[in-house]
Amino acid sequence: MNGILHKSQIKYLKSLRKEKNELILKMEEYAEKNNVPILDWKSAEFLESLVQAFRPQNVLEIGTAIAYSSIRIARSLGKNDSIDTIEKSNDNIVLALKNIEESSFGDKINVIKGDALDIIPNLENNYDLIFLDADKEDYEKLFDYSLKKLNRDGVIFIDNLLWKGYAASDDVPDKYRNSTEAIRNFNNYFLENEQLFSTILPIGDGIGFGVKQ
Ligand SMILES: C[S@@+](CC[C@H](N)C(=O)[O-])C[C@H]1O[C@@H](n2cnc3c(N)ncnc32)[C@H](O)[C@@H]1O
Repeated sequence: MNGILHKSQIKYLKSLRKEKNELILKMEEYAEKNNVPILDWKSAEFLESLVQAFRPQNVLEIGTAIAYSSIRIARSLGKNDSIDTIEKSNDNIVLALKNIEESSFGDKINVIKGDALDIIPNLENNYDLIFLDADKEDYEKLFDYSLKKLNRDGVIFIDNLLWKGYAASDDVPDKYRNSTEAIRNFNNYFLENEQLFSTILPIGDGIGFGVKQ
């Protein structure tokens, strides 16, 4: 299993794609070659469209990796708006800072080093948009912490809720069993939350989309 769309549809969508930014394309190539799990480009286009339509003043990202999605969000933000992004891997932080410097959006992106489980409860800001993209086993806790920091009418955007197709499959390899179980439990938890209007969209690897009531 590899994704939730048929190959022919992905190929067709790719043939229509208009992305020209060299850094964005270079980061996608790097991620693919080095097995860095970044946001699917179709989900990233949706996330950027959301930023352009919804105009969040401040965004929180949990899981920076190489700053692919941070840079995509930052380039769509308004003039005075910004993104805080949390990353616990030192190796990834080095790569992220290098890419951010190359992007010329450094003034909009604030990289916070450390474990989001420790950092989020101590953040002073509240946010209009929160993008959760960290270890799947921690999703429930990170989601609870995030909701406390999400403004009313704010959006939480969560990646990987269809988990390469395994969330809906009876045939899950051993390697993915724990993470699939965690995602399935999380999906129920997320959809049952009464503070949110929530849905799971079949874009990329499955996007959880919740609006705080
Ligand atoms: C899927 S990648 C993020 C991809 C990135 N959002 C993008 O699309 O370009 C997940 C990242 O989250 C980081 N991570 C996982 N759990 C974390 C936690 N509890 N606190 C901070 N970072 C975490 C990992 O080190 C990894 O770099």
